[in-house]
Amino acid sequence: MSIPFIDLQAQRARLGDKIDKAIAGVLERGDFIQGFAVREFEDKLAKFTGASHVVSCANGTDALTLVGMAEELGPKDAVFVPAFTFVASAEAFVILEAVPFFVDVDPETYNMDPISLKQAILDAKKEGLTPRMVVAVDLFGQPADYPALEIIARDNSLTLVADAAQSLGGRISNKKVGTLADYTTTSFFPAKPLGCYGDGGAVFTENSDKAALIKSLSQHGKGTEKYDNVRIGINSRLDSIQAAILIEKLSIFEDELITRQQIADRYSEALKSTVRTPVVNDGNQSAWAQYTISTDDRDGLKAHLNEVQIPSSIYYPLPLNQQGGYSRYPVNSGGVSVSEVCSKKVLSLPIHPYLSFPVQDIITKNIISYI
Ligand SMILES: Cc1ncc(COP(=O)(O)O)c(C=O)c1O
Repeated sequence: MSIPFIDLQAQRARLGDKIDKAIAGVLERGDFIQGFAVREFEDKLAKFTGASHVVSCANGTDALTLVGMAEELGPKDAVFVPAFTFVASAEAFVILEAVPFFVDVDPETYNMDPISLKQAILDAKKEGLTPRMVVAVDLFGQPADYPALEIIARDNSLTLVADAAQSLGGRISNKKVGTLADYTTTSFFPAKPLGCYGDGGAVFTENSDKAALIKSLSQHGKGTEKYDNVRIGINSRLDSIQAAILIEKLSIFEDELITRQQIADRYSEALKSTVRTPVVNDGNQSAWAQYTISTDDRDGLKAHLNEVQIPSSIYYPLPLNQQGGYSRYPVNSGGVSVSEVCSKKVLSLPIHPYLSFPVQDIITKNIISYI
């Protein structure tokens, strides 16, 4: 039996012919670019999250770049980014010539450590940079500590951005991801909690002027008329076929999130005395993009799981400050030792809404017997 890390085929089987019909609808209408499905999906996603404005775009990396463009980031502007994240969280701003400034993460949640952020802001000023933006990443699906980060951002006149590529569907108390920061960005990459069958992304904001600006930036800096280019933009659009697919997937998303939570709870119950299991803070709801354990013998465990054909992944084997392309960028003076240690110990296990309990039991038994 082969165990998939993420089972997109099981989801497709559940949706029956709805996806095929949704795609056929776009083909019949022929509105491939910025068609009816794109507007409908944006409206439905705004309703789902409670955000006032949703602007879709081509992927989660562009979503971050569009936010950087809307805030007119440029050389000498510091963007505070956790060292323990996917490269896009920093890359999106480097192409605007801004400076990613690496901040450490909390050892329990793996999300940005507010104390490390405070230090980094002081350091950036000392280095002659202008602190401009905080990009909190909701790693593995749990929202970052926005209440604490928001205070620091306000005190320092920084724009607070939630990189929610992994956390769409998550919450802090009754506030959903999409509404927790000045801007929220997400990704519809197929493996994300809400994924399409290609690339896709979106920006969420409460500010109608900024939403209109981001829409314009995503369409070549378009003004009111098609060939009226009032600013420098890029071409970053969610295509109508992906939007039509996402409308169908969004219709079962809430139910899938409940199942993800059940699976995460079962993992934690089975593994809590064997490895370090994920910590979700009181009042927080994770979207469980990943179920990530931590253990000193991570590499041995991964090799063992490989041998018994159980897939697992390391997100992420190197913190960004140790990646070739990024090692030249500044790190807060307190260092990022938590990020460096986490990258040696974490291991993500298969999690998706269609993981059966018997298969999950095989996974946990193998982990327990190895450790
Ligand atoms: C934390 C984080 N930020 C940004 C991205 C970028 O999203 P995309 O692949 O849609 O560009 C990802 C995707 O893996 C991610 O995990």
